[in-house]
Order: sequence, then C-alpha cells, then structure tokens
Amino acid sequence: MSQNQVVVGAQWGDEGKGKLVDLLTEQADVVVRFQGGNNAGHTIVVGGEETILHLIPSGILHANKMCLIGNGVVLDPEVFCREMDSLQNNGVSVGPERLRISYKTHLIMPYHKRMDNFREKIRSGDTRIGTTGRGIGPAYEDKVARVGIRAVDVLDEEVLRNKIAKALAEKNVLCEHYFGETPDTVEDVLEQVLPWAKRLRPHLADVSGEIQRARDAGRKILFEGAQGTLLDVDHGTFPYVTSSNTVAGNASAGTGCGMFAIDDVVAVVKAYTTRVGGGPHPTEIEDEAGEHMRDKGGEFGATTGRQRRCGWLDLVCLREAVRLNSPTSLAITKLDVLGGLPELWVCTEYEHEGERLTHPPQKQDGLGEVKPVYTRLEGWQDDISGVRSWRDLPDAARRYIEFIEEDLGVKVGYVSVGPGRDQTLVR
Ligand code: IMP
Repeated sequence: MSQNQVVVGAQWGDEGKGKLVDLLTEQADVVVRFQGGNNAGHTIVVGGEETILHLIPSGILHANKMCLIGNGVVLDPEVFCREMDSLQNNGVSVGPERLRISYKTHLIMPYHKRMDNFREKIRSGDTRIGTTGRGIGPAYEDKVARVGIRAVDVLDEEVLRNKIAKALAEKNVLCEHYFGETPDTVEDVLEQVLPWAKRLRPHLADVSGEIQRARDAGRKILFEGAQGTLLDVDHGTFPYVTSSNTVAGNASAGTGCGMFAIDDVVAVVKAYTTRVGGGPHPTEIEDEAGEHMRDKGGEFGATTGRQRRCGWLDLVCLREAVRLNSPTSLAITKLDVLGGLPELWVCTEYEHEGERLTHPPQKQDGLGEVKPVYTRLEGWQDDISGVRSWRDLPDAARRYIEFIEEDLGVKVGYVSVGPGRDQTLVR
C-alpha cells in the first residue's frame, strides 16, 4: 500500500466503500472523514456480525487506529453520542485518545433537521430531492452563510447561546411564515444541545495538525469518502445532489492538508448502478434483472431503508468520475450479485439530441434526456461468493472486469464478491 490513500465512491453512493475502507484500514494508522455527515451509512460485516456506522469512521472497529472527523464534515452531536454509546456497549473503545473532531467541523443542530424535512414536505413530485432528512443541506447552508455552529463553539455556553440566537433569527421567520410551523426557542435548542456539547469537548482537536504530525512520523493516513461522485454538489446531477464536494480533491480541503499529502486514490465502483432519492439515472431498469439486483444485492438504504433504484453499469458516468477523481485504482464491488443473469448490459454511450455522447451532457437536466446505448456481455451462472483468487473467477466474470478496466483506463485493484471482510480479491 502506498502511503496516504483516499477512498471515494464513483457513482451515486452505496458502492460498498465501507467494506473497502475497513479492509484498507488494516494497513493504515489514521482514518479521517472529510465530507458529508450521517447521511452516509457504512455497513461492515466482521465475523458474520453487521455494524452500521453513519458518522464515526469505520476504522474505529480496528483496535489502535486513530479516527478523525475533518472540518469538511457536518456532525450531528446527537448521532455522534449515540454511535459512541453503541460502540462502547459492544466493547469498542471510543475515547478521545483515538476519536477526534476538528474544532472547525460544523454541527448539525435540531433546527437543521426540521428545515430539511419541512422543505422536502412542501416539494412535490419531481422537485423533491429525496434527502435523507438528516439536516445535511441546511447545516452546510449555514456554514456558507457564516451563521453555522462549529465544534469549537461547544467550549463556551455563552458563545453557543449567541450563535444559536443568530442562526434562529432568520430561520424562525421562515418557519412561522413560510412553512407554517412553530418556531424554535433559543433556550429549547440550547437545552437539547448542552448535554451533547459536554460529551464532545474532550474529542475536539486540531485535525490538520494531527494529520501533519502523523505524516511527520511516517504514519499512513486513509481518507474516507462518503456518498459518491455523482452526488457532488458541483459535479453531480445538480440539483439532485448532496451538499458537499464528494470528489477526492476535497480530502485535502476537508481535513486541512495539502494536496501533495495524498499519494493514491481508490474509486469504488459497484458492478451495476444504484441510486436512492430523486434525479436522473439513465440505466435504471425495472424488469427482472433490476429485481434480481435489488433482491440479491439487498439494495435498501443503510440510512433510510429506502429501496434503491437499480440499473446496468454506466460507463459514460464512470468516465466522468475517473476524470473528476484521477483514481490510481478501482475497486469493483458486489460482482457476485450479477451471477445468474444470462446477459450483462453495459452502457458505453448515450444518444442525445441526435448525437452519440461518451461523456454526460453538461446542460441542466441533460442526463434525464439521454438514451443509453448498450454493449451486451455474457453472464455467468456460478456462485462466485466463495472465490478468493482472480484465476478462479469464471471467464465471463473476468471479461466483465477487463472490459471496465480497458474502457476506463484504470487498473482494478480489488474485486469484492460478498459482504464479508475475507470476500475480497486483491489483484
Ligand atoms: P442529503 O445528503 O440528505 O441532503 O440528500 C441528498 C441526496 O443525496 C439524496 O438523493 C440522498 O438519497 C442522497 N444521499 C445522501 N447520502 C447518501 C449516501 O450515503 N448514499 C446514497 N445516497 C445518498
């Protein structure tokens, strides 16, 4: 393994990054999250036991690894405390010596969650983003509007009170007169937040400094991405996106290290495509193959339990993801799920306004107008979940991987054939 690696999702999230991060953590010393919040859901299976983490880096499940939450994350203190409790009840140590939050990390407050849900409620049909309802967007809005509450603010109750009052001033007008809901009072919010604030305090740290010290000591850092490239607020399928930059480049800004601190980028690609929430998904299918993917792949959201919209692999979107992240290798996940399908379709181009496109159209809503052009590859019938080496894969499975590799011009370094830690082929 090279020194410092970033793991990002190349599609619309849920690519199985948690499992890969878990695997790569074994060779890392420090794991750091750089964007998103508890809209993510990382499912990790160790020894047959499933753990779902939404906020705390999954590296916490490995003894002696330092886990950091960077400035680019939005942190819900209630969820942070709940996850700490649940980990602790399962014998995992979550003390401040190994779990630290940047002073600069913005906090998701109760009113952010309310705003997120009020907004989704008044939107209808296609205008609904289908957010996770976790307050992510409103918390990032407050950061950019410079009225956000940062982790450092929990150190002083008076500062916290004043900042909450400032943030609520505008929101309460909206709440009452636009959404027709009861406004929040500063004291109510403060009363909810203070017990969490107390628990957060010992975990606050200069994360940028921690990373520098780790680098100076020659320790390996793993930057753990959440969501996926196509949900990036700038480069994704706007407005059906999340509210942070999910691309690899944000590992630097979202933690406070220079970009040359990063040696390696692994882009995680599910062997087919899924999406939760609204927005275009050109290769979406609702036929038997789609049902096969949903049932065999257990395609229900780890955060909201929503059914994921399944479809064929989309190389047009993946070419864009490669351009945006410059991955040094790919990890293909859930390859086992495709076993049993007679044929595998792969989208290699789009038809749009009488033209053939090799990259997504740039115009707003363009992706909703394209017609996918498919290449059909042979499927395999065997169950590959027990395969542990590249040469034991059926020929058709190997060809499928090589087809992706050649098209994208990036090596496939890992192939995952099941949820377990050991069900990964390292090439
Ligand atoms: P938000 O991040 O809750 O604001 O949701 C915005 C969009 O991103 C919605 O379509 C969500 O379903 C999607 N989204 C957010 N987090 C994830 C994730 O971890 N996996 C997949 N989709 C996500």
